[in-house]
Amino acid sequence: MFNIFTKQTKKKLGEEKTINFSKDGDIPKHIAIIMDGNGRWAQKRRLPRIAGHKEGMNNVKKITTYASKLGVKVLTLYAFSTENWKRPSNEVDFLMKLPVDFFDVFVPELIKENVKVNVMGFTEHLPKHTQKAVENAIKETKNNTGMILNFALNYGSRAEILTAVNDLLNEVKQGNFTEEVDEDMFSNYLMTASLGNELQDPDLLIRTSGEERISNFLLWQIAYSELYFTETYWPEFSLVHLEEAIGSYQKRQRRFGGLKIEGEASK
Ligand code: FPP
Repeated sequence: MFNIFTKQTKKKLGEEKTINFSKDGDIPKHIAIIMDGNGRWAQKRRLPRIAGHKEGMNNVKKITTYASKLGVKVLTLYAFSTENWKRPSNEVDFLMKLPVDFFDVFVPELIKENVKVNVMGFTEHLPKHTQKAVENAIKETKNNTGMILNFALNYGSRAEILTAVNDLLNEVKQGNFTEEVDEDMFSNYLMTASLGNELQDPDLLIRTSGEERISNFLLWQIAYSELYFTETYWPEFSLVHLEEAIGSYQKRQRRFGGLKIEGEASK
Protein backbone atom coordinates (compact mmCIF):
# COMPACT_ATOMS: atom_id res chain seq x y z
CA MET A 1 0.00 0.00 0.00
CA PHE A 2 1.21 3.48 -0.83
CA ASN A 3 1.96 5.53 2.24
CA ILE A 4 2.45 9.25 2.39
CA PHE A 5 4.70 10.41 5.18
CA THR A 6 4.75 13.95 6.43
CA LYS A 7 7.95 15.08 8.06
CA GLN A 8 7.38 17.28 11.05
CA THR A 9 10.48 18.59 12.70
CA LYS A 10 11.57 20.83 15.52
CA LYS A 11 9.71 20.14 18.68
CA LYS A 12 10.00 22.02 21.95
CA LEU A 13 13.37 22.11 23.75
CA GLY A 14 15.09 22.20 20.38
CA GLU A 15 15.00 18.43 19.99
CA GLU A 16 14.54 17.20 16.42
CA LYS A 17 11.76 14.74 15.85
CA THR A 18 10.28 13.14 12.77
CA ILE A 19 6.61 12.26 12.95
CA ASN A 20 5.32 9.63 10.59
CA PHE A 21 1.75 10.03 9.58
CA SER A 22 0.15 7.75 7.05
CA LYS A 23 -2.98 8.68 5.14
CA ASP A 24 -3.42 4.95 4.51
CA GLY A 25 -2.91 4.10 8.17
CA ASP A 26 -5.51 3.93 10.91
CA ILE A 27 -7.42 7.20 10.78
CA PRO A 28 -9.35 7.77 14.03
CA LYS A 29 -13.05 7.51 13.27
CA HIS A 30 -14.03 10.04 15.91
CA ILE A 31 -11.75 12.94 16.81
CA ALA A 32 -12.74 15.36 19.58
CA ILE A 33 -10.91 18.64 20.07
CA ILE A 34 -10.74 21.05 23.01
CA MET A 35 -9.91 24.20 21.04
CA ASP A 36 -7.98 26.12 23.67
CA GLY A 37 -5.64 29.11 23.49
CA ASN A 38 -7.61 31.64 21.43
CA GLY A 39 -7.23 34.32 24.13
CA ARG A 40 -3.49 33.76 24.53
CA TRP A 41 -3.00 33.74 20.76
CA ALA A 42 -4.62 37.19 20.64
CA GLN A 43 -2.77 38.48 23.71
CA LYS A 44 0.57 37.53 22.14
CA ARG A 45 -0.34 39.83 19.24
CA ARG A 46 -1.73 42.61 21.46
CA LEU A 47 -5.18 41.98 20.05
CA PRO A 48 -8.46 41.73 21.95
CA ARG A 49 -9.45 38.21 23.03
CA ILE A 50 -12.32 38.16 20.56
CA ALA A 51 -9.84 38.45 17.69
CA GLY A 52 -8.48 35.11 18.89
CA HIS A 53 -11.93 33.57 18.77
CA LYS A 54 -12.46 34.88 15.22
CA GLU A 55 -9.17 33.35 14.12
CA GLY A 56 -10.17 30.19 15.97
CA MET A 57 -13.39 30.08 13.98
CA ASN A 58 -11.46 30.41 10.71
CA ASN A 59 -9.29 27.52 11.79
CA VAL A 60 -12.38 25.39 12.40
CA LYS A 61 -13.07 25.67 8.65
CA LYS A 62 -9.58 24.48 7.66
CA ILE A 63 -9.47 21.60 10.13
CA THR A 64 -13.01 20.48 9.29
CA THR A 65 -12.31 20.33 5.57
CA TYR A 66 -9.06 18.43 6.06
CA ALA A 67 -10.50 15.98 8.60
CA SER A 68 -13.30 15.23 6.18
CA LYS A 69 -10.81 14.63 3.34
CA LEU A 70 -8.79 12.27 5.57
CA GLY A 71 -11.88 10.14 6.14
CA VAL A 72 -12.65 11.05 9.76
CA LYS A 73 -16.26 10.08 10.48
CA VAL A 74 -17.00 12.42 13.40
CA LEU A 75 -15.24 15.62 14.39
CA THR A 76 -16.49 16.91 17.75
CA LEU A 77 -15.45 20.46 18.65
CA TYR A 78 -15.82 21.98 22.11
CA ALA A 79 -17.02 25.46 21.15
CA PHE A 80 -18.73 26.65 24.35
CA SER A 81 -18.99 24.99 27.75
CA THR A 82 -21.67 25.31 30.41
CA GLU A 83 -18.97 27.10 32.44
CA ASN A 84 -18.08 29.65 29.72
CA TRP A 85 -21.06 31.86 30.72
CA LYS A 86 -18.79 33.14 33.52
CA ARG A 87 -16.75 35.12 30.95
CA PRO A 88 -17.26 38.88 30.40
CA SER A 89 -20.53 39.55 28.61
CA ASN A 90 -18.90 41.07 25.50
CA GLU A 91 -16.89 37.87 25.02
CA VAL A 92 -19.93 35.64 25.56
CA ASP A 93 -21.94 37.76 23.09
CA PHE A 94 -19.16 37.44 20.53
CA LEU A 95 -18.93 33.67 21.00
CA MET A 96 -22.69 33.39 20.59
CA LYS A 97 -22.49 35.22 17.26
CA LEU A 98 -19.75 32.99 15.88
CA PRO A 99 -22.07 30.18 14.76
CA VAL A 100 -24.10 32.79 12.82
CA ASP A 101 -21.00 34.06 10.98
CA PHE A 102 -19.58 30.59 10.57
CA PHE A 103 -22.62 28.90 9.09
CA ASP A 104 -23.58 31.91 6.96
CA VAL A 105 -20.37 31.58 5.01
CA PHE A 106 -19.41 27.95 5.44
CA VAL A 107 -22.59 25.92 4.86
CA PRO A 108 -22.16 25.79 1.03
CA GLU A 109 -18.68 24.37 1.51
CA LEU A 110 -19.98 21.88 4.07
CA ILE A 111 -22.56 20.76 1.54
CA LYS A 112 -19.87 20.46 -1.15
CA GLU A 113 -17.80 18.35 1.27
CA ASN A 114 -20.86 16.22 2.15
CA VAL A 115 -20.42 17.16 5.83
CA LYS A 116 -23.40 16.90 8.16
CA VAL A 117 -23.73 19.34 11.06
CA ASN A 118 -24.80 18.14 14.49
CA VAL A 119 -24.96 20.07 17.74
CA MET A 120 -24.94 18.72 21.27
CA GLY A 121 -25.47 20.71 24.43
CA PHE A 122 -28.18 22.58 26.29
CA THR A 123 -29.08 24.53 23.16
CA GLU A 124 -32.40 25.71 24.58
CA HIS A 125 -30.43 28.20 26.73
CA LEU A 126 -28.59 29.73 23.76
CA PRO A 127 -29.73 33.11 22.40
CA LYS A 128 -32.39 32.84 19.69
CA HIS A 129 -30.04 33.96 16.88
CA THR A 130 -27.53 31.26 17.80
CA GLN A 131 -30.26 28.61 17.96
CA LYS A 132 -31.56 29.68 14.57
CA ALA A 133 -28.12 29.55 12.92
CA VAL A 134 -27.53 26.09 14.31
CA GLU A 135 -30.99 24.79 13.36
CA ASN A 136 -30.59 26.07 9.80
CA ALA A 137 -27.18 24.46 9.42
CA ILE A 138 -28.52 21.15 10.70
CA LYS A 139 -31.47 21.37 8.32
CA GLU A 140 -29.41 22.35 5.29
CA THR A 141 -26.88 19.56 5.79
CA LYS A 142 -29.24 16.84 7.02
CA ASN A 143 -29.04 14.78 3.82
CA ASN A 144 -25.24 14.78 3.75
CA THR A 145 -23.72 11.37 4.32
CA GLY A 146 -20.05 12.18 4.98
CA MET A 147 -18.29 13.36 8.12
CA ILE A 148 -20.40 14.60 11.04
CA LEU A 149 -19.24 17.98 12.31
CA ASN A 150 -20.46 17.83 15.88
CA PHE A 151 -20.34 21.12 17.80
CA ALA A 152 -20.50 20.99 21.59
CA LEU A 153 -22.31 24.24 22.39
CA ASN A 154 -23.33 25.02 25.94
CA TYR A 155 -22.13 21.53 26.73
CA GLY A 156 -20.93 20.17 30.06
CA SER A 157 -20.33 16.52 30.73
CA ARG A 158 -21.46 16.38 34.37
CA ALA A 159 -24.74 18.09 33.49
CA GLU A 160 -25.11 15.69 30.54
CA ILE A 161 -24.65 12.67 32.83
CA LEU A 162 -27.04 14.05 35.46
CA THR A 163 -29.66 14.71 32.78
CA ALA A 164 -29.28 11.10 31.62
CA VAL A 165 -29.66 9.80 35.20
CA ASN A 166 -32.78 11.91 35.77
CA ASP A 167 -34.29 10.84 32.44
CA LEU A 168 -33.73 7.22 33.45
CA LEU A 169 -35.28 7.86 36.89
CA ASN A 170 -38.35 9.29 35.20
CA GLU A 171 -38.66 6.21 33.04
CA VAL A 172 -38.43 4.06 36.17
CA LYS A 173 -41.10 6.16 37.95
CA GLN A 174 -43.41 5.71 34.99
CA GLY A 175 -42.88 1.97 35.18
CA ASN A 176 -41.36 1.84 31.68
CA PHE A 177 -38.17 0.39 32.89
CA THR A 178 -37.35 -2.52 35.15
CA GLU A 179 -34.07 -3.97 33.85
CA GLU A 180 -30.59 -3.19 35.13
CA VAL A 181 -28.91 -0.30 33.34
CA ASP A 182 -25.84 -1.36 31.38
CA GLU A 183 -23.23 0.74 29.58
CA ASP A 184 -24.85 0.56 26.15
CA MET A 185 -28.21 1.54 27.54
CA PHE A 186 -26.77 4.42 29.57
CA SER A 187 -24.90 5.69 26.50
CA ASN A 188 -28.23 5.95 24.72
CA TYR A 189 -29.29 8.64 27.19
CA LEU A 190 -26.23 10.80 26.54
CA MET A 191 -25.99 13.64 24.04
CA THR A 192 -23.70 11.59 21.80
CA ALA A 193 -26.38 8.91 21.32
CA SER A 194 -27.39 10.26 17.91
CA LEU A 195 -23.89 9.49 16.59
CA GLY A 196 -24.71 5.78 16.84
CA ASN A 197 -23.09 2.94 18.80
CA GLU A 198 -19.92 2.77 16.74
CA LEU A 199 -19.09 6.46 16.80
CA GLN A 200 -20.19 7.94 20.10
CA ASP A 201 -16.83 7.54 21.85
CA PRO A 202 -13.88 9.56 20.50
CA ASP A 203 -10.87 7.50 19.42
CA LEU A 204 -8.62 10.51 19.80
CA LEU A 205 -9.03 13.56 22.04
CA ILE A 206 -6.82 16.56 21.25
CA ARG A 207 -6.34 19.59 23.50
CA THR A 208 -4.40 22.56 22.23
CA SER A 209 -2.55 25.33 24.10
CA GLY A 210 -0.48 23.33 26.58
CA GLU A 211 -3.20 22.80 29.20
CA GLU A 212 -3.49 19.15 30.17
CA ARG A 213 -6.97 18.73 31.55
CA ILE A 214 -10.37 17.57 30.31
CA SER A 215 -12.52 20.52 31.49
CA ASN A 216 -15.82 18.66 31.79
CA PHE A 217 -15.72 17.35 28.22
CA LEU A 218 -17.15 13.92 27.30
CA LEU A 219 -16.18 12.35 30.64
CA TRP A 220 -18.09 9.11 30.02
CA GLN A 221 -17.20 8.87 26.33
CA ILE A 222 -13.40 9.28 26.65
CA ALA A 223 -12.94 6.28 28.97
CA TYR A 224 -10.68 4.60 26.38
CA SER A 225 -9.80 7.53 24.10
CA GLU A 226 -6.20 8.25 23.24
CA LEU A 227 -5.25 11.66 24.63
CA TYR A 228 -3.04 14.11 22.77
CA PHE A 229 -1.88 17.43 24.21
CA THR A 230 -0.02 20.05 22.21
CA GLU A 231 1.46 23.43 23.15
CA THR A 232 0.11 24.98 19.94
CA TYR A 233 -2.69 27.53 20.39
CA TRP A 234 -5.89 26.62 18.55
CA PRO A 235 -5.72 29.41 15.91
CA GLU A 236 -2.26 28.09 14.92
CA PHE A 237 -3.20 24.41 14.97
CA SER A 238 -2.51 23.64 11.31
CA LEU A 239 -3.16 20.70 9.01
CA VAL A 240 0.36 19.47 9.77
CA HIS A 241 -0.40 19.64 13.50
CA LEU A 242 -3.47 17.50 12.87
CA GLU A 243 -1.34 15.02 10.94
CA GLU A 244 1.10 15.02 13.84
CA ALA A 245 -1.68 14.21 16.31
CA ILE A 246 -3.00 11.41 14.09
CA GLY A 247 0.57 10.18 13.56
CA SER A 248 0.95 9.89 17.32
CA TYR A 249 -2.36 7.99 17.50
CA GLN A 250 -1.21 5.62 14.76
CA LYS A 251 1.85 4.65 16.81
CA ARG A 252 -0.16 3.71 19.86
CA GLN A 253 -1.59 0.33 20.64
CA ARG A 254 -5.11 0.44 22.00
CA ARG A 255 -5.89 -2.40 24.37
CA PHE A 256 -9.19 -1.35 25.98
CA GLY A 257 -8.05 -2.93 29.26
CA GLY A 258 -7.01 -6.20 27.59
CA LEU A 259 -3.56 -7.50 26.69
CA LYS A 260 -1.40 -6.94 23.64
CA ILE A 261 -2.70 -9.11 20.79
CA GLU A 262 -0.29 -12.05 20.25
CA GLY A 263 1.73 -11.86 17.06
CA GLU A 264 0.97 -8.19 16.49
CA ALA A 265 4.13 -6.24 15.91
CA SER A 266 4.55 -3.42 18.41
CA LYS A 267 4.25 -0.16 16.53
C1 FPP B 1 -10.96 28.52 24.54
O1 FPP B 1 -9.91 29.44 24.38
C2 FPP B 1 -11.88 28.67 23.44
C3 FPP B 1 -13.21 28.93 23.54
C4 FPP B 1 -13.91 29.05 24.83
C5 FPP B 1 -14.04 29.14 22.35
C6 FPP B 1 -13.71 28.25 21.22
C7 FPP B 1 -14.46 28.67 20.03
C8 FPP B 1 -13.94 28.69 18.78
C9 FPP B 1 -12.58 28.23 18.45
C10 FPP B 1 -14.76 29.11 17.63
C11 FPP B 1 -15.87 28.14 17.42
C12 FPP B 1 -16.53 28.33 16.17
C13 FPP B 1 -17.85 28.12 15.98
C14 FPP B 1 -18.35 28.14 14.62
C15 FPP B 1 -18.82 27.92 17.05
P1 FPP B 1 -9.67 30.53 25.51
O2 FPP B 1 -10.44 31.73 25.17
O3 FPP B 1 -10.00 29.94 26.84
O4 FPP B 1 -8.13 30.77 25.37
P2 FPP B 1 -7.16 31.18 26.55
O5 FPP B 1 -7.09 30.00 27.47
O6 FPP B 1 -5.87 31.44 25.84
O7 FPP B 1 -7.72 32.40 27.20
